[in-house]
Amino acid sequence: MPHITSAELYQKAYDESTKNKDSYWNRIAETFEWDTKWDKTQSGDFNNLDIKWFDGGKLNITENCLDRHVKEHPNKIAIHWEPNDPSEKAKTFTYKELLENVNRFANVLKDKNVKKGDRVCFYMSMVPELLFGVLASARIGAIHSVVFGGFSAKALAGRINDCDCKIVVTCDEAPRGEKKVQLKEITDQACKEAPSVETVLIYRRTGVKINIEPNRDFYLNELMQSAQPECKPEIMNSEDPLFILYTSGSTGKPKGLQHSIAGYMLWASETFKEVFQYGQNDIFWCTADIGWITGHSYITYGPLLNGATQVMFEGVPTFPTPSRFWDIVEKYKVSHFYTAPTAIRALEACDINCVKKADLSSLKVLGSVGEPINEEAWNWYNKEIGQEKCPIVDTWWQTETGGIMISNIAGVTPAIACHATNPLPAVEPILVDDKGEVISGNPAKGNLCIKNPWPGVARTIYGDHERYKQTYFSAYPGLYFTGDGAKRDENGNYRITGRVDDVINVSGHRIGTAEVEDVIDEHESVVEAAVVGFPHPIKGQGIFAYLTPSSEGSINEDDLFIELNKLLTQKIGPIAKLDKIIITNGLPKTRSGKIMRRILRKIAASEFETLGDISTLLNPEVVEELISKLK
Ligand code: WT7
Repeated sequence: MPHITSAELYQKAYDESTKNKDSYWNRIAETFEWDTKWDKTQSGDFNNLDIKWFDGGKLNITENCLDRHVKEHPNKIAIHWEPNDPSEKAKTFTYKELLENVNRFANVLKDKNVKKGDRVCFYMSMVPELLFGVLASARIGAIHSVVFGGFSAKALAGRINDCDCKIVVTCDEAPRGEKKVQLKEITDQACKEAPSVETVLIYRRTGVKINIEPNRDFYLNELMQSAQPECKPEIMNSEDPLFILYTSGSTGKPKGLQHSIAGYMLWASETFKEVFQYGQNDIFWCTADIGWITGHSYITYGPLLNGATQVMFEGVPTFPTPSRFWDIVEKYKVSHFYTAPTAIRALEACDINCVKKADLSSLKVLGSVGEPINEEAWNWYNKEIGQEKCPIVDTWWQTETGGIMISNIAGVTPAIACHATNPLPAVEPILVDDKGEVISGNPAKGNLCIKNPWPGVARTIYGDHERYKQTYFSAYPGLYFTGDGAKRDENGNYRITGRVDDVINVSGHRIGTAEVEDVIDEHESVVEAAVVGFPHPIKGQGIFAYLTPSSEGSINEDDLFIELNKLLTQKIGPIAKLDKIIITNGLPKTRSGKIMRRILRKIAASEFETLGDISTLLNPEVVEELISKLK
């Protein structure tokens, strides 16, 4: 049960968490099951980057997610699984059944020679087996790396290779709305470029005929059936890695953020419990995919660590109709609903009767995550979904932070439209200007950094600690730089304004402009490309590409648009598709040859009046050209 149940208790917890860090976290850690108690609560800082929490402690996170609840309430429902197509049968798993499935899966992995510390790649849709598999991997001390089922074969191969996975778990195919995604076929393509893969396990979801590679490919269904439902948890060190999750940055290839077991466990669990104020008879539903961090922390770990009952949904918000989300809320009497602004905006655009016909009276708390929520969407969510009775928690956090960092606490601290508001206990946000000077006083505006490690911070980038240092700790030494800009109002409430680096947030998913440009550059008709984000009514941000062609005149813009999107779908996945392109004779550059993205972002957003001084550019005339084309 949550312990921050009043504004006073929030303040008290916050003060203690920053002043008496060790005793604050010791008390929380003691509520978990340990094989061996830790020696040292925390060590390391954002200078030495040798961060450790609960060092010397030994545990298995799945005992905390499963076994201890099975002892207390074996028949409590852990998961209500809702299939893509509502005419298919839904499934329910109690904590006892969940543990048995996890154990069976764990035994299958062991049987396929997966050992402690090995990396296991999951490339699946939102089937219960994905959840079983991730927990099974944690049970035997392997490290899971879940790759979202919308990524392409190339992207999958890159992620398999980066952390040398010898096993991939997938599905035959994945129903998603009206479509079916050929996950096994894509896995086969990826494996051609991923020599480390020895075994592919396939969950038979639809039964479609697939290619089976002898001695490499096995159906999980039968293997799980014949596996034992008991598996002793591997005893792990607090700082052993739990998982790797890839995300895009402003440069280079996606990076595998690595999280440690004990710190992440406490962070996912605490933030879930306090922010949502989850009570034991509540029904939680997070609409994210386990392929993203939200599905790690608020489907897999946070709710299960708290013994919660939750809904897991395989499908999409608009299938078979745009009332699907609301039908599911009604069907399972969901009390806590956590989704992304992009989904809210998409559903807001549909007939309001889709909402009105559903009974939403079970709802108590609403949540938002993934991108800044605009005022109109916030108001609609509040009025039409929450019926002005449900606090909305606007939760700001990142793949790197492991769990929620800045958010109001449902019904406890005030919700302010479009504001994440206050830091959770142990989170010390500060704003700095471009020179690294701390901006004190209110109101203020600057780059959002965090002082001092919290338990859930990612410990490294897999295989590249140097890149971890460079990416997050070099801009402002001693501070974690989030890549986001933020404002603080008169009362100190934070409002996150969005990325200040070359990362675009498309429907709550991060895409690096450099990644997209690299793919575009492969096209023979393009000499140079610059990609920026621009405001998009549903996605939050769309992708805008400025293209300099290799042979002027002969290029058809519509054809190029289609070809580039095909290429991007192949190399990255549909989420990297361009929304708009413009063909130009040149890109605005400084005299030293640096592309002026700031100007390109303004042009893409039609902010022609505030471009600033362009006279110092190498080629100010291209700015005029671009403006005249877009106006
Ligand atoms: C980026 C992190 C956090 C899980 C899903 C995304 C943006 C996230 C908010 C929010 C404004 C937000 C930030 C952040 N973001 N939540 N409540 N308000 N912006 O995880 O893919 O690691 O992306 O999402 O820009 O840096 P992610």
